[in-house]
Amino acid sequence: MIRLEQLHKSYTVGSKTVPALADINLAIEPGEIFGIIGHSGAGKSTLVRCINLLERPTGGRVIVGETDLTTLTAKELQQERRKIGMIFQHFNLLSSATVQDNIAFPLRLAKRPKEEVDRRVSELIQLVGLEEHRTKFPAQLSGGQKQRVGIARALAADPKVLLCDEATSALDPQTTASILALLRDINRRFGLTIVLITHEMQVIRAVCDRLAVIESGQIVETGRVLDVFLKPQHPTTREFIEQVEDSAELREVLKHEKAAGTRNIVRITFIGEKTYEPVLYESMREADVSFAILQGTISRMKDTPYGQLVVELNGTTEQVEEAIRLLLARGVEVERL
Ligand SMILES: Nc1ncnc2c1ncn2[C@@H]1O[C@H](COP(=O)(O)OP(=O)(O)O)[C@@H](O)[C@H]1O
Ligand SMILES: [Mg+2]
Repeated sequence: MIRLEQLHKSYTVGSKTVPALADINLAIEPGEIFGIIGHSGAGKSTLVRCINLLERPTGGRVIVGETDLTTLTAKELQQERRKIGMIFQHFNLLSSATVQDNIAFPLRLAKRPKEEVDRRVSELIQLVGLEEHRTKFPAQLSGGQKQRVGIARALAADPKVLLCDEATSALDPQTTASILALLRDINRRFGLTIVLITHEMQVIRAVCDRLAVIESGQIVETGRVLDVFLKPQHPTTREFIEQVEDSAELREVLKHEKAAGTRNIVRITFIGEKTYEPVLYESMREADVSFAILQGTISRMKDTPYGQLVVELNGTTEQVEEAIRLLLARGVEVERL
C-alpha cells in the first residue's frame, strides 16, 4: 500500500543543512496497522509527513497505492492526498466551527453536493459516537471527543490510508485505549491501512501488526510486533520494551546489573496457552538451578495473550547454560538481561 524507497530528507536552516531522514526503506501492506516508534527528534513526524508529501523528500520515492507521489503535479497531488487521511496530537480542529462543520470541511473543500455532505457527516458522527455533540464547538469537548472529530474528518473523503502522528499522546491512558479501539474497529471494518506514529510501546503493543523503530532518522529495526517483543535486536528497541514491561524497581536492578555483570537474570516469554510455571520449575530442577522470580506479568499483543517472567538463576555457569537450553527446548523465549 505504501512504499518508501531510499527516502532522504534534510531541512535547510539558514545556511545549514539539518539531516532528518536517511535512507528510509519501508513497505506497508494494505489493511495493516503499522507502528513507527522513536524518541523525540528521531524523525517520526518528518517521516509521516513525507508519506503525504506535506514535507517534500530531498531524495527517494514515496509510492502510495500505485502512484509515486514525488512525480505528480500540484493538482494531481491534491487529488491523491484525498486518499490519505491524517490525525494529529493536538487535533488541529477549527475552533470556530462546530463538530459537524469540522467534519464537513474537507467535503465542502472538495465541492461535494450538500445532500451528500449532510449524509456523510451523519454517518461519520455515528461511526465515532458523537451523536450528542454535533453542534458543539471544540472548546466544549474533551480530548478524546476532539480526537474523534479529528478521526471523522480524516475519514470524510473515504481514504485508503490513515496517518496518525502521536494521535493519543495528549490523552490519558483510558481515553487512549478508547481511541485505539476505535482505530482498530475502523481498520477491521473498512480495511483501512493505518500508519501509527508514537513514542509509547504500549500503543504499538495494543493495536499494531508490525512496527519499525526509528532513531536519528534511520530505521534500526522492523518486524512483526510479536517477534520484536520476543527477540528485540537493537538496544533502542529493548529500551522501549523494558519501558512498558518492567517496573521502575526492576529497571533499577537491571541498570545496576548491566554495570556489575555478576548475576544471571533472564527474561522468559511465553505465548498463548503455554503455562510457564511447570516449564520453569521443571527446567530448573533438571539443571539443578535455584531461581527467584523478580517480576511476572501477563499481557496481550493485539489479540495474542502472552506472559513474561524475569527470573534470577543461581548455579554454576554450566548449570545456568543448561537451564536456559532446557527452557528453549520447551518452546519459550529466553533473553539474558
Ligand atoms: N521544519 C523544520 N526545520 C528544521 N528542522 C526540523 C524541522 N522539522 C523537524 N526538524 C528537525 O528534524 C529532526 C526530526 O524531527 P521530527 O520529525 O519532528 O521528529 P519526531 O517527530 O520524531 O520528534 C529533528 O532534529 C528536528 O529538529
Ligand atoms: Mg513528532
